[in-house]
Amino acid sequence: MTFQENKRFTVKDEEEWIKNKIKDKHSDTIVVLYNGEPAGIGELQFKKTHAVIGLWVRKKFLGKGLCMKLVKKLLDMAKEKGFSRVELSVDEQNIAARKCYESIGFEYTGFKENTVNYLGSWRNEF
Ligand SMILES: CC(C)(COP(=O)(O)OP(=O)(O)OC[C@H]1O[C@@H](n2cnc3c(N)ncnc32)[C@H](O)[C@@H]1OP(=O)(O)O)[C@@H](O)C(=O)NCCC(=O)NCCS
Repeated sequence: MTFQENKRFTVKDEEEWIKNKIKDKHSDTIVVLYNGEPAGIGELQFKKTHAVIGLWVRKKFLGKGLCMKLVKKLLDMAKEKGFSRVELSVDEQNIAARKCYESIGFEYTGFKENTVNYLGSWRNEF
């Protein structure tokens, strides 16, 4: 069973997270800038047989096409690292993310029920 906690992070939590990311040899993390301002982050995790993508865009920069830009950059990074397969999981109800991934060419290969806890209710993911 997977559990995703909905918690608020402090600045100290965030600093710790960044320090750990810099040290982490099993993933690379990038920041996308919009007019010089940090607007979102993307992560590429290195698994044995494939890479896994994750990304977040800040609220005030949503709907500006940054999802597409981040995913394309992460796919280029995966290629440079020698991966021929890239996977990701997406909440069934996350329409913006699904549209972004579909337009780039991701295909659905599986469906898991009740794996994402969003504000107290369980949701499905592809
Ligand atoms: C999902 C997320 C990355 C999308 O980022 P974004 O930069 O706003 O996405 P884009 O501007 O590239 O838009 C992607 C597509 O979704 C559409 N879209 C954007 N917001 C939407 C909404 N609220 N409802 C429906 N469609 C929406 C866009 O029109 C675009 O479709 P198009 O290419 O057909 O025009 C962003 O909402 C986010 O960070 N969410 C929180 C974290 C998260 O869900 N990460 C992904 C985990 S799998």
